[in-house]
Amino acid sequence: MMFPTGLYGILLILCIGCLGENLQFPEFNGATGKSVVLVPEDPPYISSQIISITWAFGVNTIILSNAAGTSISPEYIGRVNLNTTTAAIELKYLRLDDSGTYRLTVSTSDFQNYIGQTSLKVYETVSDTTLIGPQESLIEEESSANITCEGSGHITSMEWMKDKNPLTPINITFSSDNRSVLISPVIRSDSGEYQCTLRNPFSSDTANLRLIINYGPEDVFIDGPNEAALGSPVLLSCSATSVPPASFTWSFNGSDTGVTTNTFTIDKSDITHSGDYICTAHNDVTEINVSQRHLLVVKEDDGDGGGGLTTGAIVGIVIGVLVAVAGICGLIFYFIKQKQRSGPGNNNAETIYENVDF
Ligand SMILES: *[C@@H]1O[C@H](CO)[C@@H](O)[C@H](O)[C@H]1NC(C)=O
Ligand SMILES: *[C@@H]1O[C@H](CO)[C@@H](O)[C@H](O)[C@H]1NC(C)=O
Repeated sequence: MMFPTGLYGILLILCIGCLGENLQFPEFNGATGKSVVLVPEDPPYISSQIISITWAFGVNTIILSNAAGTSISPEYIGRVNLNTTTAAIELKYLRLDDSGTYRLTVSTSDFQNYIGQTSLKVYETVSDTTLIGPQESLIEEESSANITCEGSGHITSMEWMKDKNPLTPINITFSSDNRSVLISPVIRSDSGEYQCTLRNPFSSDTANLRLIINYGPEDVFIDGPNEAALGSPVLLSCSATSVPPASFTWSFNGSDTGVTTNTFTIDKSDITHSGDYICTAHNDVTEINVSQRHLLVVKEDDGDGGGGLTTGAIVGIVIGVLVAVAGICGLIFYFIKQKQRSGPGNNNAETIYENVDF
């Protein structure tokens, strides 16, 4: 069938303007539950008077706005906003099935029609990110830790951080899918806040996990005098490097004193306080004990002259060491450092450091 030639001419005249000018759009992406605004680049109608705007999704009209008002398709009520100046449409509470082609038609009072289309891709929002780590206590040089990052949604990349810095693979092995890391064996500097972020181009979700690496006690040290004047107070203070913090016990001349604080105090020293003090630091998690020995001599203060001191009886306590102090410059430092290990296993190992100083 052929149209009469005259009809072509009439159609041509009617369609001046109805073919429309193309609107240019970028591509749009969104994430489920979030919003996206679809708007053409540099809309040419912006300085004209708009008389109608139509947005359609596939073949279905979403919204039509003209002099008679605005009508919204029932399934879009509450989910769209239209800006009648720019013709931008905001789509809210995005769903996966909002992915597809959107078409915009704008008519202006000067009989121009503007038409364009764009596509929207909706990704599933990343959510429920969790870091799963070891349940048991971690001990330095003994334990290893496997941390796994899990989450749901459309995940295109993931990132590991520790204490806000990228996780560096020094003693760390990443699984081939990057979802888990194995730290073996753990060392104290592995303590800290681990963070995993799962992403897609339009959403991300982060989870945190704190790891504590237990170690010690080490560097056990007793601070206090080795000599005290009769009647004076004495304070011995024991310290240790330990995670968790060490607990302390004190023995005196081989007997437990019942003191469980880091300090041992004598309000008014007398001759019976002279002897061998041992502070033992204990770590509940590593089950390691480390001891430090300290000698105290209480003596009668006979003034600054310092002659004729008789300390031999007291010094006799000290593992066969006898020191005679005489003269004005009668100060001799004797230092023994001795390390012993008792017991067959690594746990419960007991180390005694001896620090004789008088
Ligand atoms: C429409 O968009 C323009 C440009 O972004 C903005 O200035 C104006 O406030 C918007 N109007 C409404 C009703 O949101
Ligand atoms: C860590 O544990 C996860 C889950 O338990 C496992 O799939 C993964 O292979 C482990 N990673 C390493 C490096 O051992």
